[in-house]
Amino acid sequence: SDFLSAPKPLKGKKALVTAGPTYERIDPVRFIGNFSTGKMGIAIAEELANMGAEVTLVLGPSHEKTLHPQVRTVRIESANELYIESSKAFAQADIAVLAAAVADYRPEQMATEKIKKADTGLSISLTKTEDTLLSLGKIKTPSQTLVGFALETTNELEHGKKKLEAKNADMIVLNSLRDEGAGFGHDTNKITLLTRNADPESLPLLSKKDAAAAIVNHILKLRHAEKT
Ligand code: CTP
Ligand code: CA
Repeated sequence: SDFLSAPKPLKGKKALVTAGPTYERIDPVRFIGNFSTGKMGIAIAEELANMGAEVTLVLGPSHEKTLHPQVRTVRIESANELYIESSKAFAQADIAVLAAAVADYRPEQMATEKIKKADTGLSISLTKTEDTLLSLGKIKTPSQTLVGFALETTNELEHGKKKLEAKNADMIVLNSLRDEGAGFGHDTNKITLLTRNADPESLPLLSKKDAAAAIVNHILKLRHAEKT
């Protein structure tokens, strides 16, 4: 939607969006990362802002950005920084959409010097990162709407439903990789919306902008249903 012409049902509301990959440092010149571009999360941040919300976008290392005047971008690098900045913003947030592709593991310690090539192989010990969605789900109040993403390659619906429950989210956006042209690095997405008390809602292949509009629209419906 367009900022000037769109209705403003989220006027006075605050929203948190996470987007992009995280980088977990191995040594001063190397990291563990993923192919997320951040485009989907940025589109959601802009759509929430178009609906009148004041948005904090916690954005990992991405070439993408937004210049939307109602979106404040906080740049982060690692899963730990994403957790810290998201927790801060969540305290004031009415809506949180966690679209970032967060690394599940980070090196147990970062080497202070560049790791030199040796004749043998190299093993790096990894330790789990903070799960921001899980932790926000634990502190969520009834007036807050919490939305997560899930990318699954097998048993999509089953795994997605499990995530909805395990992380105490109000909605999980299932991102399909199955369809040609969908997912990481593409400008279109094939998504399914999973909520508590309704059947999964499969959407057609949409541009990221249209997918963002559908997701935000569904959030508005959920919030409206809760109040009535
Ligand atoms: N997430 C998060 N912090 C993490 C890992 C995931 O906030 N350390 C969030 C993601 O932003 C997403 C949701 O949790 O909204 C689900 O992420 P996903 O990677 O699909 O689920 P995991 O619980 O990490 O499980 P797995 O990777 O094993 O499928
Ligand atoms: Ca994960």
